[in-house]
Amino acid sequence: MKRVGFVQNDPVFGEVERNVSRALELASRVEADLLIFPELFNTGYLFLSKEEVSRLAEDLGGYTVRQLSRFARETSTALVAGFAEREGGRFYNSAVAIDEDGEVKGVYRKTHLFFEEKLLFEPGNTGFRVFDLVGIKVGVMICYDWRFPEAARTLALKGAQVIAHPSNLVLPFAPAVDLARAVENGVFVILSDRSGVEERGGKRFEYEGRSLIVDPGMNVLVQAPREGEHVMVAEIDPNKADNKKINELNDIFEDRRPEMYEGLC
Ligand code: ACM
Repeated sequence: MKRVGFVQNDPVFGEVERNVSRALELASRVEADLLIFPELFNTGYLFLSKEEVSRLAEDLGGYTVRQLSRFARETSTALVAGFAEREGGRFYNSAVAIDEDGEVKGVYRKTHLFFEEKLLFEPGNTGFRVFDLVGIKVGVMICYDWRFPEAARTLALKGAQVIAHPSNLVLPFAPAVDLARAVENGVFVILSDRSGVEERGGKRFEYEGRSLIVDPGMNVLVQAPREGEHVMVAEIDPNKADNKKINELNDIFEDRRPEMYEGLC
């Protein structure tokens, strides 16, 4: 059994040190094997220009990843956390995966960019990745990737037992979609969403919160409220996700018929 969970935070735009220490303070309130943090948890979401992205983006040796690594090592907790990544002169909306020893296992770069993210970030070039973290196969997708069932399906076909979903959701029905992603793929999904409101430069986003953990049978194990900052944990057996049989005659992966899915790829 593994203890897995999420942090739901409400960052102040641009105050990276404050946001990182607040999120780690929330994380330190629980004992967990794996914790997921929201999309762009350290910077906030509402970037107004590429210049702002350039000022706040960090590489894998930067402040945010160093703080996360230290926390992971000191508490033996694996982490997945969203941040604005700098790679040379390019910027990605990324999530870093860190194991329980504090070692950076890699990044996933958001595949499907939402709205003005298209003006700020490069489309992700990593493909959908599954990381071995604390004995769990953890696939990662970021926020708007939920709109594309292919994202979660690709991760599940690659062997993900848990899908980590760092998010800044802006549509009220979005958290519920992860229940479908769980049952159709026979996996656990951990949605780590942010809460609160951001208003900058005449723009406004209100975030949906309601982070959750759902099991392969579509049971919601824990869920945060829409408002406020929270950390929650559930105990799961990740191996349950390896069995795709739903009765003696149906296996949801063996029953797939890709030759009938014309036009999908
Ligand atoms: C989103 O993809 N952050 C809505």
